[in-house]
Amino acid sequence: MELDVELIPAAASYPIRHAVLRPHQSIEDVPFKEDDEAGTATFGAIERGSGAVVGVATVFRDPAPFDAPQAGVPAGGGSEASTWRLRGMATRAAAQGQGIGSMVLNAALDHVAAEGGDLIWCNARVSARTFYERAGFRTWGEEWVIPAHGPHVVMWRWIEPGKV
Ligand SMILES: CC(C)(COP(=O)(O)OP(=O)(O)OC[C@H]1O[C@@H](n2cnc3c(N)ncnc32)[C@H](O)[C@@H]1OP(=O)(O)O)[C@@H](O)C(=O)NCCC(=O)NCCS
Repeated sequence: MELDVELIPAAASYPIRHAVLRPHQSIEDVPFKEDDEAGTATFGAIERGSGAVVGVATVFRDPAPFDAPQAGVPAGGGSEASTWRLRGMATRAAAQGQGIGSMVLNAALDHVAAEGGDLIWCNARVSARTFYERAGFRTWGEEWVIPAHGPHVVMWRWIEPGKV
C-alpha cells in the first residue's frame, strides 16, 4: 500500500476513531473538545489512488498529568508551552501491523518538534504499550481502567530539540 502522511481536518479522522477506538459509542461522542482549537493538528495516512484514510493521530498542547522532573524529563523541559498530548491514535483494523501507526506517529512527533515541543504524553491503552515503547515512550505511574475502554497507563516521550 502506497501512503502519504499529511495534515487532515479533524473530521476526516472521525470514521477511524469511531470504528477503531469507540465502536460502542455514537459518532457524536467521537470529537475531542480540542479538535477545533487553534494549534491542534490531526495527521492522516492516506492511501494513494483511493484517497482512503487508513491511520490517524491528533496532537495539541496540554500540560502533563505528572511532575516532569520527577518523571525524569530533562531539566528545563516540559514547560506548559512545550508539552503536547497525543490522542486518537488509530489504524484501520485491516491495516494494522504494517508500520502505518509508526508513520503517523512520526509525522506527529515531527510536527511537535517543529512547534518547539519537547515533551509529549498520552493515556495509552495497555494493549498499545509496546507500540509506544518502540517509539521511545516510557511509562509513568500505575495503570487504571477507563470504563468501556479498558486498562490505560500514562506514557511520555522526551523530544530532543532538533531531533525526533
Ligand atoms: C496501536 C496502533 C495505533 C498501532 O498502529 P499500527 O499501524 O498497527 O502500528 P505499526 O504497524 O507501526 O506497529 C504495530 C506493530 O506492528 C509491527 N510492525 C510494523 N511494521 C510491520 C511490518 N511491516 N510487518 C509486520 N509487523 C510490523 C510493529 O513492530 C509493531 O509491533 P508492536 O505492537 O509489538 O510494537 C493500532 O494497532 C491500533 O489502532 N490499535 C487499536 C487502537 C489503539 O489501541 N490505539 C492506541 C490507543 S492509546
